[in-house]
Amino acid sequence: MRNSRESPAKVEISFTVNGEPKKIHAYPMERLLDMLRRDLGLTGAKEGCGEGECGSCSVLIDGALVNSCLVPVLQAAGTNIVTIEGLASGRDLHILQNTFLECGGAQCGICTPGMILAAFHLLHERPEPTIEEIREGLSGNLCRCTGYSQILEAVAEAVRRRTIA
Ligand code: FES
Ligand code: FES
Repeated sequence: MRNSRESPAKVEISFTVNGEPKKIHAYPMERLLDMLRRDLGLTGAKEGCGEGECGSCSVLIDGALVNSCLVPVLQAAGTNIVTIEGLASGRDLHILQNTFLECGGAQCGICTPGMILAAFHLLHERPEPTIEEIREGLSGNLCRCTGYSQILEAVAEAVRRRTIA
């Protein structure tokens, strides 16, 4: 019988990440952020605050934008996870990745994967957002570098290009 002071055993957890089925062994309460970065080598999600405040660890779980620093890995069992690594198609960057590069929306890059995933989520929900809606859609993501105007412009430019295309 397990002593109550022993740490819990690792469990097998299956999910899909960026379209690929994965099976890992992890402690149930480990953070999804750590598992993605350490076990799967998906280092796009960054740790900023580690407290659910900055959004730099954002990923999509079953289409919902979440802070992976707050998600116990067991909660991700059976889900479909998308990280920043899943947005490009091979060497072709996603339109948002291109506009962030072109508009100067990425500087040190710590917030960028989370910003782009938040923008991706917003455009899925609302394909032609106003600037105010873009600002609101990215309000859970903090940036220390850009002053935000380049980030807003990058998302607005992606909307313009999608509207024109
Ligand atoms: S590192 Fe997760 S919200 Fe800041
Ligand atoms: S680009 Fe540095 S924190 Fe946003």
